[in-house]
Amino acid sequence: MSRAHLLVVDDEAAILSTLKKALTLEGYSVDVAGGVGLAAERLSRGSYDLMILDVALPDGDGVDLLERLRNEGNDTAAIMMSGHATIDAAVKATRLGALDFLEKPLSTDRLLLVVENTLRLLRAEAEAKELKAEAGYFDELIGESRAMEELRAQIGRAARSQASILITGERGTGKELVARAIHRASPRNAGPLEKLNCAAVPKDLIESELFGHEAGAFTGATKLRRGKFERASAGTLFLDEVGDMPLDMQAKLLRVLQEHEIERVGGSETFKVNVRVVAATNRNLVEACNEGQFRPDLYDRLNVVPLALPPLRARREDIPLLADRFLVAAAKHNDRPGVRLSPEAVESLGRHSFPGNVRELKNLIERLVILSPDDTVTGTDVQHALGMGAQPKTAGLYRPDIPFRVLVEEAERTILEEALAHHSGQMAATARALGLERSHLYKKAKSLGLRGE
Ligand SMILES: Nc1ncnc2c1ncn2[C@@H]1O[C@H](COP(=O)(O)OP(=O)(O)OP(=O)(O)O)[C@@H](O)[C@H]1O
Ligand SMILES: [Mg+2]
Repeated sequence: MSRAHLLVVDDEAAILSTLKKALTLEGYSVDVAGGVGLAAERLSRGSYDLMILDVALPDGDGVDLLERLRNEGNDTAAIMMSGHATIDAAVKATRLGALDFLEKPLSTDRLLLVVENTLRLLRAEAEAKELKAEAGYFDELIGESRAMEELRAQIGRAARSQASILITGERGTGKELVARAIHRASPRNAGPLEKLNCAAVPKDLIESELFGHEAGAFTGATKLRRGKFERASAGTLFLDEVGDMPLDMQAKLLRVLQEHEIERVGGSETFKVNVRVVAATNRNLVEACNEGQFRPDLYDRLNVVPLALPPLRARREDIPLLADRFLVAAAKHNDRPGVRLSPEAVESLGRHSFPGNVRELKNLIERLVILSPDDTVTGTDVQHALGMGAQPKTAGLYRPDIPFRVLVEEAERTILEEALAHHSGQMAATARALGLERSHLYKKAKSLGLRGE
């Protein structure tokens, strides 16, 4: 909602002009109507974010107007105002979804406050709804190949058990997506899903991240902090990049998995924990064990249920479907509703080896949608984009023939991706470290199609 559109309905010209002036000064765009008839006409012509309705009007009743609108399927948010409101009218208005009921005579300040709060609430609700829809989309595992069907069945079986799960697969194969799917499908889905990226946390902080610390446990530990294990209680703990966990931490993790007990850093008590661990890595842990970089006993503990994700090149038949879904999302995201992939473009995609797997395909589609001069992406466009992707980025950020906006966006994406990874996807910490408002970072990440948690 950029500039909110308001409709004020009252029979007194003086009230209308006072409110219009005050609300306009606050930056709202305001229309007024002196009665039910005029209000209905305005509502049929334009849409409003909020209407402020008097109850007693010369040609009818504000509550009846609201009822009529609701019956017509109009759900414009409403605030009522009245000088001699009956309880009945207030009850009926509330039932019709009126968000507030103001007593007359009105205090302009109070009205402004109520309007501001109401709009904020509406915005928050709209945003939550959008995020939910988006999360649903992004969390969906796309693919109809046999490998994907088999994976879905495995996820279903694994989710029901309480056993530890180890997800392996090359980068970009969907390990995190699968970890979320497991949590959602598990009996623990009402509990939290906590994530720790073992590669992103500095070595000497992993222990306190996992187990928490008491106040004063070490320099900088001013307050008691609960660790991921405590936070994930009755839920799931996703240990991402577990292959990068330092050896001494591996020993401590193993003990927790055996004893189901933790001790905060600097603490003397032990706590029982009720957590299901899902770990993921793109390293070959058997090899890491042989090389002495990973504890074989921890490997056995984590690997109770192994889930190996296939690389995209092993299920090429899913490429057209994935490409299509990513295209729809990217087209919407970048406001290019007409963009399509030509059959040759899809064919070219099908021949590529995708070392970066699904993530590479997703990013490639986004790039194609942004760069394509026409609505139809051709096979040549795809080949060109694939060549471009292979260019070393280390040469600098500039690349010929790429619009400035796209270069900047790519740089921003890289920075935010790295920053979010560094802070385990935590928006608040990332915003602080970057000196950004949390809401700004949130919007930025959303507009770049990134997600934190
Ligand atoms: N089967 C799939 N369906 C839809 N999207 C997918 C699928 N697999 C992966 N993706 C998408 O590809 C991107 C990479 O997925 P994800 O982060 O889960 O991979 P990963 O295996 O954890 O990669 P890395 O090892 O680099 O951390 C994400 O944007 C994810 O939504
Ligand atoms: Mg990952």
